Amino acid sequence: MPAEIVKGKTVTIQFDGAKCIHSRGCVLGYPNVYVPNVKGEWIHPDAASAEEVMHTALNCPSGAIRVSYNDGSETSDKPPVVNTVRVRENGPLAIEAELSVRGEKQATPRATLCRCGQSKNKPWCDGAHAAAGFTATGEPATREFTALEVRNGPVNVQPSPNGPLLVSGNLEIVSGTGRTTDKVTKVALCRCGHSKNKPYCDGSHKAAGFTAD
Ligand code: FES
Repeated sequence: MPAEIVKGKTVTIQFDGAKCIHSRGCVLGYPNVYVPNVKGEWIHPDAASAEEVMHTALNCPSGAIRVSYNDGSETSDKPPVVNTVRVRENGPLAIEAELSVRGEKQATPRATLCRCGQSKNKPWCDGAHAAAGFTATGEPATREFTALEVRNGPVNVQPSPNGPLLVSGNLEIVSGTGRTTDKVTKVALCRCGHSKNKPYCDGSHKAAGFTAD
C-alpha cells in the first residue's frame, strides 16, 4: 500500500497505512485534520496550525504519520534526544530512536514492533494482538542498570530467525506509565509472545515452535 501524501499550505502529511496500529491519537486529538470513514480526502493539513499538525506525527507511535514543513525547515523525522522502547500493555513495543531494521535505515524514528508473535507484517505490529487475546504487562519490573554515557545515536533491530529481536544501540526500556525499567546497549526482546520474562527473550520461542523470518 503506497503512502498517502497530502500537501497543505505550510506542511505536508504523509500517511503510511501499512504501519498504522490505530492508536487513534490523530483522529481523537485533531478530528478536523484526520477525518476517518469519509468518502474522498480524509487528511486536511490546513485544518490546524502547522505546530499542531507536527504534533500529530511526533505523537504517532507507529511512525505511520510523518510531517514536514514545505519550506524544508522542520520534519518529524528528527531522531529523539533519548532513545526509548515503550512496553505497551497487551500490545507492541513502541520504539523511538535513530532506527535501522536489519541494517536498513528507517525514514522515521518511530515504529511499533510485534511482540505477540501474531502479526502478518513482522517485525511491525499490525494490531493482531487484540484478536489474538495477547496479554502481557506494560509494567515489567525495574532492573538494576547503569546510566548510559550517550542516550541517543543509532539503534539497529535485527529480527533473528524464529527467535527474538536483537537490538543494539543506546536504549532505555520504559514501562507503559513512563518508568525507566532498564538501560541497555544490547538486548534480546521477545517477539514470540511466550517469554515468561517479557519484554526479554527467555528462550521460550523454541518450545513454542515460533517461526518467523
Ligand atoms: S522470542 Fe519469545 S522467548 Fe524468545
